Order: sequence, then structure tokens, then C-alpha cells
Amino acid sequence: MLGPWVEKYRPQSLDDVVGQKHIVNRLKQYVEEESMPNLMFTGPAGVGKTTSALALVKSILGEYWRQNFLELNASDARGIETVRTDIKNFCRLKPVGAPFRIIFLDEVDNMTKDAQHALRREMEMYTKTASFILSCNYSSKIIDPIQSRCAIFRFTPIKAEEIADRLKFIAETEGCEYEDTAITTIVNFAEGDMRKSVNMLQSAASTGSITEDHVFEVVSKAKPQEIKKMVNTALMGDFMKSRDILREVMILQGTSGEDMVNQIYQDVSGRVMSGQMDGDVYMNLIGAIAETDFRIREGANPRIQLEALLAKFL
Ligand SMILES: Nc1ncnc2c1ncn2[C@@H]1O[C@H](COP(=O)(O)OP(=O)(O)OP(=O)(O)O)[C@@H](O)[C@H]1O
Ligand SMILES: [Mg+2]
Repeated sequence: MLGPWVEKYRPQSLDDVVGQKHIVNRLKQYVEEESMPNLMFTGPAGVGKTTSALALVKSILGEYWRQNFLELNASDARGIETVRTDIKNFCRLKPVGAPFRIIFLDEVDNMTKDAQHALRREMEMYTKTASFILSCNYSSKIIDPIQSRCAIFRFTPIKAEEIADRLKFIAETEGCEYEDTAITTIVNFAEGDMRKSVNMLQSAASTGSITEDHVFEVVSKAKPQEIKKMVNTALMGDFMKSRDILREVMILQGTSGEDMVNQIYQDVSGRVMSGQMDGDVYMNLIGAIAETDFRIREGANPRIQLEALLAKFL
């Protein structure tokens, strides 16, 4: 189990990319045609933008892809000028052993408008020798002149089923046993983010085995059953006992104050929706929950605030 699984299981070819089928099919056409326009990949984190870019580059540039490929991060700590110098130096050279050269620029949405205008001029200047692949989370942050020079590909969160299958494949390849409920829990927390999912899987595996309990531990979230029990005891009037549960969850599992409030909110909302709690009671509680949420965000001591919240449940 050496190294991070996210790298070990990063798909090397377009065929291995999970989901994003429309995008992958169009990218494969570029490979067949041996040419591509400037591309812009947008979408949430961990869904395959960098992965697809690398896979495309390898198959379109072939054997000498390394020599003809430049990967840069727009939010480079050394500043945007360094990035531009790197682009200039790279574009001055002719492609070697490949039809053209490719520059992959990540996190373009972190560039200022001025820097984006400069980038746009560079994209124009080097159209003959280089193609750009720009990657960002929000295309709305990219200036129109750049957007209109790119074919835009919108990556979407990966479907729960596809993530589950991938996680099972990885666990099996690594020879790790897993509980199905552990996989479901990871998928629920990950919200379509494959990187997050694979990281959670590896963390759970490193604690011994991929069980639901271990997943809750590694994400430092309380189990819904524990929150339910805590809320129940408070509603039934046993403050001291519900306070014990609160302490146990926060200290032993390291659940943060913000997560606790959120989970309490989810629990209470679930009760109203399933008719287990009256609307009136809910209306009283939600005010107290909102107050606690606000105070914790403002920096108040989470344990004191949460104990006060439980006291209001009595
Ligand atoms: N579609 C996918 N199929 C298979 N694995 C994936 C996919 N998307 C992400 N992964 C896994 O997650 C890791 C990170 O993915 P990637 O670097 O492509 O994310 P990204 O979309 O570029 O995210 P960011 O916006 O944070 O840069 C990969 O190394 C791989 O292990
Ligand atoms: Mg990326």
C-alpha cells in the first residue's frame, strides 16, 4: 500500500476515465484527427479534469509527449510573471517529434483579469505552435475573450454508482476487504468527488479495514445514530446523559463544532419530515440551532455552545 492511491489509480488513458463520457468521446476525436483547438475544462474538484488532460496529451502527442508538454499552475506562488515567462520560453521552441505542443494551465480562475488578458495575447501569439488546455472550477471567472477562444468542456460530479464501483475495484486490487455500507458512506460524503472518495477509502483502509465505523472515524463525523441518541436523551429530559454523548463524540471522534450543529440540524429536520416531531417544537428548536451555528462560526467555544443547545432541547 505504498503512496497515495489517488496517484496510483489515476487513469492513464481516456478509456479508463470514469464517467464524463461525452467529454471523453470528443477528446478521442481530437486524438484521431491529430489536432485540437484550445480547450477549457471546468467543473468541481476531483472529477477528472487534470486526469483527462494528461491522458489526452499522452495519446495525442505520442511517444515524445514529455518534451512537448508544459504543465503550469496559474496560482503559482512565484507569481504570474514567472508563469508567463515559462510559457514564452516553452513556445519559442518548435515541437519535437509531435505535431504541436501543449500547455496545461491549472487554476486559471485564480488569475486576475489583467493576467488573463495577458494570457489571451499569448494564446494568440503562439497559435501555430502550441495549444492550451485551461482548467478551472468556475468558467464564470474567466474573461470572455479567453472563453471564446476555447472549446469548453463542463465536467460534472461523478455518479454515486460509478464512484462505488471504482472504490470496490481499488479495494479488491489492493486486497482489502470492505463493508458495502462503508462504500455507501464514503460515496455519500464525497458528493461526486472521486479524489475525496479514493482518499477516504485509503484512510479507512490504513486504520486496518474498510468498515463503516472506520469511515466515520477518518472523516471525523459523528454517526447519525449517535446524534439521534443524543438528541433523544435531551428531548426526554436527561441532560447529563446527552451531554456525555456529546463529549464522547467530540473528543473521541474529533467531530468539529460546525459539523455537530449541522448533523443535529439534519437529525431534527428528518424528524419533522417523517412526522416524528411537531412543527411547533421544531420552530422553537431551529431558532436555538441557528443561534448556536452563528456563535460557533463567530468563534465561541463549541462545546459550551452545544451543551447550551442541548439544555434548550429539554
Ligand atoms: N473521472 C475519473 N475517473 C477515475 N478517477 C478519477 C476521476 N476523476 C478523478 N479521479 C481520481 O482523483 C484524482 C484527482 O483527479 P483530477 O486531478 O483529475 O481532478 P481535477 O478534476 O483536476 O480536480 P481539481 O479541480 O481539484 O484540479 C485522480 O488522480 C484519480 O485518482
Ligand atoms: Mg486538476
